Amino acid sequence: MGSPKLQGRHLLGLDGISKEDIVMILDTAKSFREVLDRPIKKVPPLQGKTIVNLFFESSTRTRISFELAERRLSADVVNFAASGSSVSKGETLKDTARNIEAMKIDMVVIRHSSPGSAHFLSRVVDANVINAGDGEHEHPTQALLDMYTLREKYGTLEGLRVCIVGDITHSRVARSNIFGLRTMGAEVSVCGPATLIPHDIEALGAKVYHRIEDIIPRVDALNVLRIQLERQQSGLFPSLREYHRYFGVTIDRISKAPKPITILHPGPINRDVEISADVADSEHSVILEQVTNGVAIRMAVLYLLGSTN
Ligand code: CP
Repeated sequence: MGSPKLQGRHLLGLDGISKEDIVMILDTAKSFREVLDRPIKKVPPLQGKTIVNLFFESSTRTRISFELAERRLSADVVNFAASGSSVSKGETLKDTARNIEAMKIDMVVIRHSSPGSAHFLSRVVDANVINAGDGEHEHPTQALLDMYTLREKYGTLEGLRVCIVGDITHSRVARSNIFGLRTMGAEVSVCGPATLIPHDIEALGAKVYHRIEDIIPRVDALNVLRIQLERQQSGLFPSLREYHRYFGVTIDRISKAPKPITILHPGPINRDVEISADVADSEHSVILEQVTNGVAIRMAVLYLLGSTN
């Protein structure tokens, strides 16, 4: 029997991914999560493979997490940052990628501000492509690590009630979570001001709420999103203080839930804007578990795609 294989050669998003592929990634991540608790955290499956991390947009968690995952799997790793590269001299994404591929690499992890950039890259290079966040479109490994964290806590995603709170319009994390959670049989809702919720979001299967007090009694978990000031037009809400007043996830609000509620956040967090500092640091929060699980999820994705070559 050969190694397990995903249906495609790339991980570009969770839109259209099968339940079998998600389960395979989550189950494989569980084995790698155990490796992370060992004194020696390195295993050999990607020995001899070369992976390039192409980050055209800033990142702390995803960039470090991918690099750690690659090194834990014994791959050779090259990091690229747009600043200081020939992108500043006008080189296109296609030319940058094809020149890097000419140096004989096997896999590319890309973060880029343009939606569709990972799909584009997968058409112009032979290497496996993994989307580490493309503009407002998708961030599949973030949603997979969110789902992994919830599955570990509740044992299943089937029937789990998850609400994504905040800036849904500008959020690739929200889109990937909606696709993934719905495929796994979870009940997904979104909550935020009308100006931050796309008018067609219900077509993706997410129920819409505009008052956080209405959603808290109905869910098992809140996935709280950062207010993305860098992607917003002005005037979508009056002020950060007002946003916190109406939508901030506070201890006072979550203590009204009939049973303990789990708080996720993809990071980076804006303390006392979308989430109060005491909630971020409380026993409800699984934010740092998400970060640890992210390494295991990325190891699983790299391993499963690496074994398709
Ligand atoms: N969650 C996430 O994508 O964080 P970074 O932007 O720091 O990678």
